[in-house]
Amino acid sequence: MRVAGAAGVMAMVLAACTEKPQPVAREFPDPDSAGAVLLVERCGTCHVAPRPTAHVADGWLTVLNRMQMRMRSRGYPILEKEEQRVLLEYLQAHAAPAVK
Ligand code: HEC
Repeated sequence: MRVAGAAGVMAMVLAACTEKPQPVAREFPDPDSAGAVLLVERCGTCHVAPRPTAHVADGWLTVLNRMQMRMRSRGYPILEKEEQRVLLEYLQAHAAPAVK
């Protein structure tokens, strides 16, 4: 029984390792950057995390400010100043090209 139990636990651990926790995370540009991590962790809870190309660079600050309001009204922790700065920089760096 002990052997079977251990095998069962191993199988679970292996399954956990091969399963991607956030399949969408790797699809973002520069996926290991602090900005991408913030985007996936903080912006993928109420809805699927948006792509940076959802807005042009100039549009992201307005969206972030509105999302802060949504987070506050739903009792989510809001982004700290530094987090908002890092996230905004990331979104703007990978934003949709500005319309000329
Ligand atoms: C507390 C819940 C909540 C969280 C967390 C949240 N959002 Fe939203 N988001 C909403 C709601 C509700 C809407 C639809 C209403 C609206 O657009 O304001 C929305 C819509 C959006 C849209 C589509 C509308 C548009 O203007 O393009 C984008 C993009 C977006 N969110 C980005 C973000 C980003 C970036 C973050 C992380 C900083 C985030 N959201 C975190 C609730 C949330």
